[in-house]
Amino acid sequence: MRVLVLNGPNLARLGSREPEVYGTATLDDLTEACVAAGGQLGLHVEVRQTDDEAELLRWVHEAADGRVPVVLNPAAFTHYSYALRDALAMRTAPLVEVHLTNPAAREAFRHTSVVAGVADGTVAGFGLLSYELALRAVASMIASLPEA
Ligand code: DQA
Repeated sequence: MRVLVLNGPNLARLGSREPEVYGTATLDDLTEACVAAGGQLGLHVEVRQTDDEAELLRWVHEAADGRVPVVLNPAAFTHYSYALRDALAMRTAPLVEVHLTNPAAREAFRHTSVVAGVADGTVAGFGLLSYELALRAVASMIASLPEA
């Protein structure tokens, strides 16, 4: 089963981006960890990142059309992109929102997620482990889906 791990703006900067907040792992490290975790769970994981809201929407539409589960770190779009929320509401497969940090423990503007309400669940605060836990949740949801 294919799973898309989608990452929003500024996440290609991991490693050099505020390392005291986001740690020192790079997007390549994140990709490696997700592919490895997916392999152990029997999932074919594809990791993508974009700074472009329109591109992210196209990927979400693609996932909906292909019934592909998604693990999504919407980054700053989490907090204000109604377009992303509307796109995700069309989903046809499991969706887990993921964050490296715990937005609830940070600035007030990060306490709102416009995405959370259309996701199956959220994993936040555990760095790369957030993604691995999210992939485990996806694998578990897929296993309990009725056969197509
Ligand atoms: C983030 C948290 C967001 O508030 C922030 O805008 C990000 C990263 C995280 O993974 O912790 O870019 O989604």
